[in-house]
Amino acid sequence: MYIPSYKEEPFEWYKSMRTQRIVREGNSVHVFKYNDVVTVLSNHNVFSSQFRDLLGDDIKNELDSRAAPSILILDPPRHTELRGLVSSAFTPRKIESYDNYIRELAAKMIENIIEKGRCDLVSEISYPLPIMVISNMLGVPEKDLKKFKEWSDALATSLGRGPDLRTQREMSEYFLNMIDRNSNEDNLISRLSNVSIDDKKLTDQEITGFSILLLVAGNETTTNLITNALIELSNHPDIYKELVDNNKIAGDIVEETLRFRSPVQSTRRYAKYDYQINGFNIYKNDFIFLYLGSANRDEEIFKDPDNFNPFRENKRHIAFGNGIHFCLGAPLARLESRIVLEEFAKRIESFSIERLNPDDRIDSDIMYGYKRAIINVKKINQ
Ligand code: HEM
Repeated sequence: MYIPSYKEEPFEWYKSMRTQRIVREGNSVHVFKYNDVVTVLSNHNVFSSQFRDLLGDDIKNELDSRAAPSILILDPPRHTELRGLVSSAFTPRKIESYDNYIRELAAKMIENIIEKGRCDLVSEISYPLPIMVISNMLGVPEKDLKKFKEWSDALATSLGRGPDLRTQREMSEYFLNMIDRNSNEDNLISRLSNVSIDDKKLTDQEITGFSILLLVAGNETTTNLITNALIELSNHPDIYKELVDNNKIAGDIVEETLRFRSPVQSTRRYAKYDYQINGFNIYKNDFIFLYLGSANRDEEIFKDPDNFNPFRENKRHIAFGNGIHFCLGAPLARLESRIVLEEFAKRIESFSIERLNPDDRIDSDIMYGYKRAIINVKKINQ
């Protein structure tokens, strides 16, 4: 089966694959339709996320000695226990308390963009903002931010291509050193050190595993959401004008960007048992590739799916997944990108993004976005 490289737009390919619904190649099964993707994601008893069970003992031991497997790659019952613990330190209310901090950061970055007039949107705001927010939440000092960016890049590139052991090792050591059970600072690492359910606490390795997951799952994804939203607004100056007049539509623009240019294009499971999806046979140990980016353009679910329309009624995209692994960071990603759009529209009358090259696409088989996007802005005259 032909699979487009990460440098190509996948959407025409998805459209033709949706006519075949599900395609098998050896023991790999590729799923393209919305309802089929949801069926797999919501059926965690059959479709497992626990891929490490398939790794050799050597690699497993090497990985586990420092950072315990994160919730993203665990099945119940361990997933349920751990998710319960980490969610209590990561509630939507806690996230909302970062509103002012994020707004100030975004405002400062946008003022810089205005001063420059023409610059790279990604390096000026989409990239640094999420990493600064999550580092601040975790309690990482500013002097270590550069190291963090390098790690988060390396991990995003390795996603779907096997574990990057060197980076994992460096990050695990860093986080293990940060854990201080006696600290009374109010940051995520201290909160994670102290949360308990039925007297059960997270181990050092679990805190480390979760902190690494936050970096991997939270940075590159939100970066791409911010960039992708501004790219779409540059393609639709009429919608941008509406945003300038009424910043209450920022949330709708974020949701439509999630559907239309999903930052995470695909995810995976493996089958623990034989099963049928809509009459299609799945066999034990099959690898299942789930194309969220295709599901979000499914013409049977979304009217006129190739049209970017923030005002559509159906907003049930699955860009954050579905079922027990639904993205824990969704409220944070939504908040950050909404604030960027609001602060941007307060200050910038109009803008354009220069032609994007396939070489500027991020180097990942799973994530969708750009490494750079040159923007030209015109400030609002007060
Ligand atoms: C636009 C931004 C984001 C997108 C599109 C996104 C997407 C996703 C998706 C699709 C999943 C489910 C994967 C699966 O089922 O295989 C997921 C899980 C997860 N995400 Fe996000 N994510 C984003 C931002 C964030 C942020 C900002 C954080 C935290 C700082 C975060 C933390 C997590 C965690 C912890 C999980 C695992 C949940 C579990 O396994 O129970 N994500 N995300």
